[in-house]
Parts: sequence; structure tokens; C-alpha cells
Amino acid sequence: MRDEQGHPAPTGPLILGIETSCDDTACAVLDGRGRVLASVVSSQLDVHRPFGGVVPEIASREHLRNWLPVEAEALERAGIELSDVDTVAATRGPGLIGALLVGLSLGKALAYSLRASFHAVHHLEGHIYSPYLGAAGEPAREPPASFVALVVSGGHTSLYRVAAGSVTALAETRDDAMGEVFDKVGKRLGLPYPQGPVVDRLAESGDPAMHPFSVAACSDGSTDFSYSGLKSQTLLAIEALERQGVRAPAGGVDDGFPRQLTDLLAGFRVAAVGQILDRLERVRSSEPFDHLAVSGGVAANRLLRREITRWCADRDVELELVSLEYSGDNAAMIAHAALRRERAGAAHDDPLEAEAASRIAF
Ligand code: KG4
Ligand code: ZN
Repeated sequence: MRDEQGHPAPTGPLILGIETSCDDTACAVLDGRGRVLASVVSSQLDVHRPFGGVVPEIASREHLRNWLPVEAEALERAGIELSDVDTVAATRGPGLIGALLVGLSLGKALAYSLRASFHAVHHLEGHIYSPYLGAAGEPAREPPASFVALVVSGGHTSLYRVAAGSVTALAETRDDAMGEVFDKVGKRLGLPYPQGPVVDRLAESGDPAMHPFSVAACSDGSTDFSYSGLKSQTLLAIEALERQGVRAPAGGVDDGFPRQLTDLLAGFRVAAVGQILDRLERVRSSEPFDHLAVSGGVAANRLLRREITRWCADRDVELELVSLEYSGDNAAMIAHAALRRERAGAAHDDPLEAEAASRIAF
């Protein structure tokens, strides 16, 4: 049997995923082969933009307001009824506690009332396996038994070793996350939230050689990341240009940027991406790997995508780079993590017991 797009009919179990850890209200439906039948993400960008960043209390309220239409759209696109759902998966953390509580509580209530099985999913587990989600109608791919995962987002810059389903941290940021620094640099220039993609676009037209920044290393030789030094250097360099009368255009627009500023952003971006490549090299020399999975919102960064592709090709490392559709927060990755748990025979979570947490280690 095939659906109207010519895709094979879904196979059970049908999994409903819920993601509300930050400012995206997301609902997705996956089938038992990991095919994404629907993935709906309602962004709250317009609501948070006047504040230049996410306001936690507003995010929680917006999740409540958005949920029913987002859920209805996901079910409609997937061509199923709520009663068809076999498994419910919701993010339990890490993230903004109020925002997490909305999605997790919805998931618990749905699972309980539908008598569906329930998984309270670690947000980063969702990102880690997201590169293996297929294009529309394609089943999810199976990762190798052991691989290294890089998660780069607004909250995380982390490297993990994933082996036989268990995740071990190899490196973590000691201060700011990479996306956070893109956002802060862009905010200083008056760009609209989220600033990361705009800074990336502006950097494309700059010449990094005109404004080089060094790649930060941890003084104790660790493979951990550190972005606060680069952030301070970049903010100071913006200030120095301003003293010379070089300014970003007023009103948060990204056209008409002076050449010196796009050069500066290009130099900043090269150093930010350079740190990722530096840490990958260091990890590889102590913990050889031949498979790398890259995910998270910053995995949309154009330079990162180009450089990491080249880095892997030069070293015969197989690369799974998350598709742009699933790089930012989404619920397909949460449903996918739950499906992997089901397949591995992991215990279900009790919908009456599961608790949200803003910080959780693996
Ligand atoms: O994974 P995500 O949607 O949410 C978190 O879990 O943090 O990542 C959002 C982050 C934001 O900091 C955003 O500015 C950044 O990803 N981002 C980018 C790009 N696209 C999104 N940063 C740099 N370049 C991009 N193209
Ligand atoms: Zn995320």
C-alpha cells in the first residue's frame, strides 16, 4: 500500500514526538521504520525578537498557546488520528524549565490518556541521532556501532563517543556555546534574534584574512571548548571599529554593512569553526574514529558545513551531517530517539513519574 506521494504505508508503532525545550513548539509523527510522517515546528521568533533573545516566561506561555494547532497540523499531515498513536515521546531536558514542563506535561497526559507507551527523552540524544533521519518518506538510517558525535547549538558545544547506544562526553564548552557567541556578537551589532544565521550570511561576503583571530586552546591541554575569549576579542574589535566611526547600519538590518565589519565577522567565523576542527583533530589523535555525526542548530553554519566536509574527506572519516531541516530544534529527533529506545528494548518511562530538569548530564 502506498500513500498519495507514492511512499509505502506507515508501519507501526506510530510515535508522536514533542519538543518544547526552548523557543520552538514542535510536534512530529514517525513510523516504526523511522520515517518522518510529519514534522511541524512553530517558531516563536517574532514574539522574542523585540527582546533580542528568548524570554523564558514568554516561551512557556507561547508553548501553551501553540500546542493544539501544532499537534493538529502534525496529525493531519501524517494522516492519522490521535488514537492511532502507540508511543509518546517528549523532551525532559536540558532546557528552560518552564518550557520543558509544558511539553513534558502534555506528553505525560497524552500517553496516560491514550494508554500509549511513554519516553521522556534527553534533548541531546535527539540531536546526536538526528543526522540519521532520512529525507521525506525515507526510513531512518542505522548508525555504526561506534561513532563520534558533535553537537553544536545555542546551548551546547559538545563531543561525544557513542558506542553500543551509550553516550560518553569527550569534550564540552567551559563557558559559552558556539551558537550563543554568534548570537551575542550579532546582538552587539543590533541584528535581529536569532543572530547566528545572519552573522553567518554576513561573514560569507567578508575576507577573514583582513581580520584574523586566533583559535583558543585550553591552557591545561584539554580538548574542551572555550568561546568566551573569542567573544570578548570580537566585541572589543567591534568597539575599536566604532571608535573609528565604522558602525553597523541602524535598525537591525543586515544590508549596507561596512566592509570592515563583514571582514571582522568573517575572521570571527573562521576562528569559531577553526576551534571545532582543532578539537576534532586533538580527539582523533587520542581516540581514533572513522565516523562523525554532526548536529545542532549551528550545524547549519555554511563555513562549518564546508570545512567539516573537507576535514572528514581528507582523513577518510565518514561524515553524517544533519540535514538543514533537522539541525535546529524539532520533534522528529525526539520521536526518533524514542524509536531507537523501543528497538533496543529499553524500559518505558512512567508518565506519572517522569520529571523535567533544566540540566541533565548523560
Ligand atoms: O539547536 P538549536 O535550534 O537550539 C538549541 O538547542 O540551542 O540551535 C539554535 C542556535 C542559535 O544560537 C542560532 O543562532 C544558531 O543555532 N544558528 C547558527 C546558524 N543557524 C542557527 N549559528 C551560526 N550559523 C548559522 N547558520
Ligand atoms: Zn537543541
